[in-house]
Amino acid sequence: MLTKTYQTVKVEYEKDGIAWVIFNRPEKRNAMSPTFHAEMWDALVRLNVDRDTKLVILTGAGKAFSAGQDLKEYFRELDGKPFERAMASHHSHWRNEVLYLYNKPTIAMVNGYCVGGGFTQTICCDFAIAANEAIFCLSEVNWGILPGGMVSKMVADTLRPRDAMMYACTGRPFDGKEAARIGMVNFSVPLKSLKKETLKFARELLAKNPNVLRGTKHAVRLTRFMDWQEAGDYLAAKGAEIKQRDLTRGHDAYQEGIRQFIDEKAYKPVYSPYHGAAEGKAPSKVRKRAAAQRVTMKRKTAKKTTAKKSTAKKVVRKKRAVAKSATARKTTARKSAAKKPAAKKTARKSTAKKRTVAKKATARKTTARKPAAKKKPAAKKTARKAPVRKTAAKKATARKTTARKPAAKKTARKTAARKKK
Ligand code: ACO
Repeated sequence: MLTKTYQTVKVEYEKDGIAWVIFNRPEKRNAMSPTFHAEMWDALVRLNVDRDTKLVILTGAGKAFSAGQDLKEYFRELDGKPFERAMASHHSHWRNEVLYLYNKPTIAMVNGYCVGGGFTQTICCDFAIAANEAIFCLSEVNWGILPGGMVSKMVADTLRPRDAMMYACTGRPFDGKEAARIGMVNFSVPLKSLKKETLKFARELLAKNPNVLRGTKHAVRLTRFMDWQEAGDYLAAKGAEIKQRDLTRGHDAYQEGIRQFIDEKAYKPVYSPYHGAAEGKAPSKVRKRAAAQRVTMKRKTAKKTTAKKSTAKKVVRKKRAVAKSATARKTTARKSAAKKPAAKKTARKSTAKKRTVAKKATARKTTARKPAAKKKPAAKKTARKAPVRKTAAKKATARKTTARKPAAKKTARKTAARKKK
């Protein structure tokens, strides 16, 4: 932790290793004097290798971020003093030489005026977040110089070409929202939530593996100016460097990240870094959970394998059974094919028999049906039955007559007797 104190710079810490580096000349709108440059150089170089500093946020005290070079102290007062000017110029390179490839992530939190030379540190920080109310201006054209100190180049590299040209040539001021639109900053938010949003963003970065983050930001910066072959070689070397750096933390990000995702299903790289990326090793809670997950995973895998094996066995058994029955069917078919002539004969005989029986039956039926077909069956039946009935009736009548006859005889006898009388 940096405990040194400065006249024009204030260094403050958050608990989690975020260091605030505050430009502390609010009365001069944080204009950059030679003293300020020397102190910034010192502070940043120290913080770059400080064990406790994980991320650096640059911002300004008061209502300005930076009013650019101090026109009085940096320019006018150094006229005719080449040694002092050279020294001041050298120290002013904290903005590009030191910040440009810093070990830790850096954020410019633009809280107010950001003018001229103030563009350099804004662009050279890895990220920039502005207040909507901040005012950006390339004022050089308005007081008689071009945007020097690499400002023209940085603006040309960072902004869209038309915007770079327009704002450099007009010196027109623009706000935080416009700065975000043209790519001068990552995003802008209302001034009242600027600190909160900046810390939130910083903590998102803090959760990453710092070696991976460092390699990534260097790669993004430098490969822009390399050809394909150089970029390929550089990236391969940078990857190896990350592994080497991770060794000192007893932790290989590459292996750990893949293991936690593939084996433990402990995180999703699309949504978060692997557990323990920031710390260099998974915290004990995470390690315990990961171990439990590993056991569960193993059990699940074992179950799946057993299930797969038994299914495979079943399939094999089924296939065998099917094959067996197919073979059996084939054998039977072959046997029956061999027996076919006899069977055919039998079949023929039985068919002939059946036919004969059927014919006979038909004939019987036909014979039975024939008279009915010639005469009206009902009439015939009636006719056939009628004589029987008639004979019976006649006989009955005859019987009755015969029975009645003695009565007649009796009557005749009675009549004859009466006549006699
Ligand atoms: N250099 C020296 N002193 C400065 C600078 C500067 N770049 N900017 C502000 N100050 C001083 C003022 O002289 C004033 O000092 P004083 O109190 O002793 O008079 C004090 O800071 C406050 O400045 P004000 O102008 O009163 O503040 P205000 O809030 O009204 O305006 C603003 C702020 C717009 C930033 C204005 O000060 C300004 O235009 N400054 C010039 C910015 C500039 O052009 N910078 C150079 C860019 S080019 C380059 O960096 C290479």
